[in-house]
Amino acid sequence: MDYLSIDRQHTWHPYSPHPATETPLLVAQTKAQTIVLEDGTKLVDAMSSWWSAIWGYNHPSIIKAIETQANIMPHVMFGGLTNKPAVELTYKLAKLTRLPSVFLADSGSVAVEVALKTAILYQKAKAKNVSRFVALRHSYHGDTLGCMGVCDPQNSMHSLYGDYVPQNIFSSIENLGQTIVNHHKDIAGVIVEPIVQGAGGMRIHDAEYLKIARELCTKYDLVLIADEIATGFGHTGQMWGCDHGGITPDIMTVGKSLTAGAMTLSAMCTTKNISDTISNSQFAALMHGPTYMGNPLACAVANASIDMFSEVDWQAKVANIQKIFETNLEPLRACDIVADVRSIGAIGVVELRSDKYASQLQKHCVQNGVWIRPFGRLLYSIVSYNITHDELEQVTSAMCDAIYEQI
Ligand SMILES: Cc1ncc(COP(=O)(O)O)c(C=O)c1O
Repeated sequence: MDYLSIDRQHTWHPYSPHPATETPLLVAQTKAQTIVLEDGTKLVDAMSSWWSAIWGYNHPSIIKAIETQANIMPHVMFGGLTNKPAVELTYKLAKLTRLPSVFLADSGSVAVEVALKTAILYQKAKAKNVSRFVALRHSYHGDTLGCMGVCDPQNSMHSLYGDYVPQNIFSSIENLGQTIVNHHKDIAGVIVEPIVQGAGGMRIHDAEYLKIARELCTKYDLVLIADEIATGFGHTGQMWGCDHGGITPDIMTVGKSLTAGAMTLSAMCTTKNISDTISNSQFAALMHGPTYMGNPLACAVANASIDMFSEVDWQAKVANIQKIFETNLEPLRACDIVADVRSIGAIGVVELRSDKYASQLQKHCVQNGVWIRPFGRLLYSIVSYNITHDELEQVTSAMCDAIYEQI
């Protein structure tokens, strides 16, 4: 089979025209931090498959969980039935997030949709008929319509879909407190990406805005939603981005690395107050139920991944990664084409002054044995916590060389 020509004919890739303008690389296999292409080329993975493969690919514990659970029961419906991996997962997430009511869903965007629906219903149950949110400039919360409504309007797809996208209120980080004060009567809640804003620009922030949002949401009985889909599970050096500010939100969304890059699964975790208020109201139920909700196979994988956090010193690993990113990327600051260099946890970012270099940077890194996918002006890497010292050196030197090549 000529996979690439069939791909070109029939396969519509993300954020792309069809057929795509770039020919994708055909991956034959993955192993630990390596992506093996069909022609045998080995690439060190500097992307963690969009923040997901935190322990590297094909980790023995993850593979074992898949094999064991696939033989017992890959799936069974969640309405009226429950299953052990799902129950175990809700127990673990309740403990980890400090939010005891857990709704399982099937992708990050769906978890955010469920979070928004939950917040609106909570306010309605308390006789506050509001459906708007305060969100942040440069935010990204997913691609479905409700999620698009809380993504930065200038940075996303609002202009394409017009009135179909819910209208919300956007604030800078600096003005967040005042915006909440000004609009508290008209909103159901506030949604933030804690500490790092990902797809909206890989921006790293001080934790102060989290504390302000927490204080004001408590004062006005607004629902504080922390979208930890990207930041969660240790990416910023703490288990949750919220931990940097010492706060617990009213709703947390998790996804991506929940299953360490092996399956699609997400969750919305919330307080007993919110789940009780909705459940004891005239609405009685949260009207949402994905077909694959509580999928035992995905839940078994998530359980295996979460268990690894107590089996390895992940914080030391992530701290070490951060140190190497800081040291090795810092010299790039002296380059004229570089606007900023920043890193936190397992995330290293180089912001360029122009977006014209993106495809050249990617090409150069691939030629040097590293898989990286810049977007716009950002050359960034998110690595597995199990990356070796040599692999990370290879990633950072490919990033540096790719930039030096452009000068
Ligand atoms: C902060 C955040 N929220 C939500 C999403 C959407 O997740 P998914 O792509 O799994 O729908 C993403 C994806 O990048 C994200 O970074």
